[in-house]
Amino acid sequence: MTILVTGAAGFIGNNFCQKLANNKKFKLIGIDSFNNYYSVKIKRLRIKRLLKKKNFKFYQINLKDKNKLKNLFKRYKFKEVYNFAAQAGVRYSEINPIAYIDSNVTGFINLIKLSKDFNVKKFFYASSSSVYGESNNFPLKETEKLSPKNLYGMTKKLNEDIAKNYFENYKFKSVGLRFFTIYGEWGRPDMFIFKYLAAAYHKKIFYLNNYGDHVRDFTYIDDATNILIELRKKNIQKNDIYNVCSNNPIGLKKILNFFQKISPKTKIIKREFQKSDVYKTHGSNKSIIEKTKYKQFENVNKALQKTHDWYLKNKKFYK
Ligand SMILES: NC(=O)c1ccc[n+]([C@@H]2O[C@H](COP(=O)([O-])OP(=O)(O)OC[C@H]3O[C@@H](n4cnc5c(N)ncnc54)[C@H](O)[C@@H]3O)[C@@H](O)[C@H]2O)c1
Repeated sequence: MTILVTGAAGFIGNNFCQKLANNKKFKLIGIDSFNNYYSVKIKRLRIKRLLKKKNFKFYQINLKDKNKLKNLFKRYKFKEVYNFAAQAGVRYSEINPIAYIDSNVTGFINLIKLSKDFNVKKFFYASSSSVYGESNNFPLKETEKLSPKNLYGMTKKLNEDIAKNYFENYKFKSVGLRFFTIYGEWGRPDMFIFKYLAAAYHKKIFYLNNYGDHVRDFTYIDDATNILIELRKKNIQKNDIYNVCSNNPIGLKKILNFFQKISPKTKIIKREFQKSDVYKTHGSNKSIIEKTKYKQFENVNKALQKTHDWYLKNKKFYK
């Protein structure tokens, strides 16, 4: 069976491919534009490790490029498509809004249309906890009203609306994955944990937003990818949506305390609240657990320690 994974050089897509490729029955095609939102070197290294798997092949393609994408669909008869390619990041959507329209709107529409036209059986796409905005009916259920606070969250909500429309109009089934603050090995250098570790190990100042008063439902990458591996075996009902989270909100200060005990001291400058951020995320993972029966979430201290130890070995790439 041939499977397409977009954003294969990205954090989640790459870790997911790594797990999926262990099944020799699958032929995996990964694509990525290698955009320079963060270090392209890290993205190339992620692809390099994947290319060691014999059943993985990579193409540098931008989702915006409809013709290249169409040729790929013609060449490989994909049975499943996973869309992890997107312009990620909340604060960057104030600096470069068009990047979000290009990848998350135009790119998404190109991909879902081709998937429908070429009769893809399972279409999964990354949404985000950002669709909830400042909702505080915790833990947030999938049925909660959506009111994103930033353009990033708006584009993810639009993805979900388009997927709904594709089911209603064409009976095209899909699964939207609302990821909550994923962290771990091969993590993103623009996110809190790796930004802190980079500051600590490369003797830089760490800027702590919102005076460290944020709370996030930190979710370990292995749990997220294990969940996806289980989910792909299940039936899709219609335009399904799942929170992918640990249901375990943690204050940023607590995470900082953990790393401060095991890494070099660094200067921390506290900053005021960033307007596009939300104070707290906390999702319910009841639906995804019911669907996948996945319960063996990694202990958070162990997951943080593993993340730290991995970073220490690979810190030269994260300067
Ligand atoms: N990491 C998280 O905590 C988190 C939380 C919520 C949602 N998400 C979503 O999950 C998905 C994966 O996130 P990630 O953390 O791996 O981000 P990432 O930035 O590491 O990965 C995204 C990848 O997509 C590629 N890409 C961007 N635009 C593209 C385009 N137009 N064509 C082809 N490739 C393109 C980038 O080069 C990058 O390698 C994204 O959709 C993101 O919005 C992530």
